[in-house]
Amino acid sequence: MRTQVAIVGAGPAGLMLAHLLRLGGIDSVVLERRSRDYVERRVRAGVLEHPTVELLREAGVADRLDREGMPHHGISLRFDGADHRIALSDLTGRSITVYGQQEVVKDLIAARVAAGEPLLFEVSDVMLDPATPLVTFTDAGGTRQELECDFIAGCDGSHGVCAPHVKATVHAHDYPFAWLGVLAQAPPSHSELIYTHHERGFALHSMRTPEITRLYLQVAPDERIDDWSDDRIWDELGRRLAADGFTLATGPILEKGITTMRSVVTEPMRQDHLFLAGDAAHIVPPTGAKGMNLAIADVWVLAEALGAYLREGRSDLLDAYDETCLRRVWRAEHFSWWMTSMLHQAPGADDFQRKLQLAQLRYVASSEAAATSLAENYVGLPLRR
Ligand code: FAD
Ligand code: PHB
Repeated sequence: MRTQVAIVGAGPAGLMLAHLLRLGGIDSVVLERRSRDYVERRVRAGVLEHPTVELLREAGVADRLDREGMPHHGISLRFDGADHRIALSDLTGRSITVYGQQEVVKDLIAARVAAGEPLLFEVSDVMLDPATPLVTFTDAGGTRQELECDFIAGCDGSHGVCAPHVKATVHAHDYPFAWLGVLAQAPPSHSELIYTHHERGFALHSMRTPEITRLYLQVAPDERIDDWSDDRIWDELGRRLAADGFTLATGPILEKGITTMRSVVTEPMRQDHLFLAGDAAHIVPPTGAKGMNLAIADVWVLAEALGAYLREGRSDLLDAYDETCLRRVWRAEHFSWWMTSMLHQAPGADDFQRKLQLAQLRYVASSEAAATSLAENYVGLPLRR
């Protein structure tokens, strides 16, 4: 088999890259180790930044997003039991859209399938040689295949096989907490997202549809999900989210899981003909809602750069790939770390640290300049600068 770009991973990064390349007349083959059903059901991110939504629209894959996505013009910071609204749209002129990551993935898979372009699920033992470049893998039927290509895109997430091929410096930071996330058959209890600072730990109220809520609780990194009955989860959410005039709507829990939190940046993001994008290259803690958006921003840069090379023989954009992406990545790393540090309770944190967090929260809630800075980062910096 031969293609211009071999893409490893059918998450948001790999699928969007394949789509953008196709729009630019470039062939690719996408290899995914999981089944279609699995990737379409995997519950993860929910917040699309303004530039992400614009790009999905420009790329012609936003029809359902425009029908079903929930535009949000503000978020709440809840501390000392009261809400402090950050008016995203008033402060920046832009908004975010709540639309599940797996819905974006479904839309991109549907576009790929409709175009009749290669997207191979349930492949195994993917191996690569970034210098040749060559990718080998076993297809779903058990046959070993060779895929010759001009470039390899490593879009295989934080535990993939591509990143170890890059001779890179890995900058990493672990956090002493994790998130327990639940998807519940319960209407949102508030029209907007609520980021809650509480002495028992952070909590987040989010949503997917008018009938489904997405809620998160800060827990210890070694917490076992089996120790969290549905009753215990609702009880703890109720305590942390308590505020005057607020009633938490409850209902059957459809799904629950624990995610550890890390910050990681791989520099550089390329090796020979291999380019990393999305979680394969960098991870942010979810508090800033940046992970999927960074993945989409990377592949926008990569698709333009690969296009310039493969269509016109220009290598300047490919040479600048790292620098272009890493400027945005480090900004998002700082924002995500800052939001995380301001809102979570570190084990052993003393009263002094809590006072500092509250002083920072009060400042953000009362200063238009500080609120605008948060809002500008939250809605996303423009892709074209
Ligand atoms: P992935 O989505 O991880 O996709 C990688 C793909 O590669 C997967 O399908 C995987 O199966 C496949 N793969 C892996 N190894 C191989 C292999 N060897 N061969 C073939 N295929 C392989 N981000 C936001 O922007 N906003 C949010 O609100 C947000 N909330 C989050 C909440 C939680 C609980 C979590 C866990 C994450 C959240 N994120 C959020 C982060 C976001 O989900 C990720 O950043 C995003 O999935 C990255 O996309 P990706 O395509 O780079 O990687
Ligand atoms: C989500 O809805 O899953 C979500 C929202 C905001 C975040 C993280 C996750 O910061």
